[in-house]
Amino acid sequence: MVHGGDIYTDGIFKGQDLLDFSSNINPLGVPEGFKNNIAEALNNVTRYPDIKYRELLKNLSNYTGTVEENFVLGNGAAEIIDLVISNFKSILIVVPSFVEYEINAKKWGCRIEYSKLLPNMDFDYEDIQNKLTEVEAVIIGNPNNPNGNIIDKNKFESIIEFCEAEGKTIIIDEAFIEFTGSIKNSFIDKIEHNKCTFIIRAITKFFAMPGVRFGYGISSNEGLLNSIREKQNPWNINCFAELAVKYCLKDKEYIDKSLNWIEAERKFFMGEISKISCIDRIFNSFSNFILCRLKNIDENKLYKCCLEKGIIIRKASNFRGLDNSYVRFAIKDRVSNERLIKVLKGIEVINNEFR
Ligand SMILES: Cc1ncc(COP(=O)(O)O)c(C=O)c1O
Repeated sequence: MVHGGDIYTDGIFKGQDLLDFSSNINPLGVPEGFKNNIAEALNNVTRYPDIKYRELLKNLSNYTGTVEENFVLGNGAAEIIDLVISNFKSILIVVPSFVEYEINAKKWGCRIEYSKLLPNMDFDYEDIQNKLTEVEAVIIGNPNNPNGNIIDKNKFESIIEFCEAEGKTIIIDEAFIEFTGSIKNSFIDKIEHNKCTFIIRAITKFFAMPGVRFGYGISSNEGLLNSIREKQNPWNINCFAELAVKYCLKDKEYIDKSLNWIEAERKFFMGEISKISCIDRIFNSFSNFILCRLKNIDENKLYKCCLEKGIIIRKASNFRGLDNSYVRFAIKDRVSNERLIKVLKGIEVINNEFR
């Protein structure tokens, strides 16, 4: 298993309805705008989408404040990550991070360098800058998965200047950026004047649509954008994704409700989780998931304990740089969070056995 907990193997295929704390999706669910207008997409199913996706690009441009020429569209952020990485012979990956960065880099035969997060899970800016001299590009999460920390824009400034001057590319994965609550945390304001920046976004997490598969890249580096476009199949975005972009990105009520939920629930969740006896340390998160280091129990035992109670969590040992003493929890709605917390509180050591 490479990604989150496998709800299909452990849950759905066994007819078990699991509470999924392994994948980080907004618990407010599908925005009303999508549900209410689904008939519009159904009407479009029998014809091909606009091969130039003009309306879609206009909607993205309105949402991000970036010109339409700066976008490349993908079947989820995953397609964009894969295709942008394909352009480089060498890449620096900041780790631990989303496992696809490394999988894709290996697939394309890139030489890989790693910059490890510091023990407190902050970025090692000096190390990133030093190692960048040896590679063509760097990929970094903002916020970073699995810990949820964000990039300090002041500390990153000299890295951007260096990459701009040296013709290197900074790929910033902002798949979770909306959960941080402020657009100021995004590097989108750098796009226009810094050709070295390439941002990846998606509707997957914040708008709760992993099944729709829509992500996008933003950059003012025309050469890089065209090189990605040339590798893509025509009509890679379906009419349901077009509908989602049209109605969800301007759904202010959903966005506001989500921001209120994450602000309140992150505080509550971090407070409660930090009191659990088998949790040694929690790492500060600006996103909708929390990385925890365990004590007196490993990820497999904790996974089993939670699964027995109908809950699935994310083991974290397959993130490069972490071991089996880490797990990641999604932040969900209050009722679900309380259910997880109750289960975690109930785990006691009895003769060194966890029950
Ligand atoms: C950091 C990060 N980026 C990108 C993705 C992929 O997103 P999508 O489902 O839009 O392809 C994920 C999925 O878990 C992720 O965690």
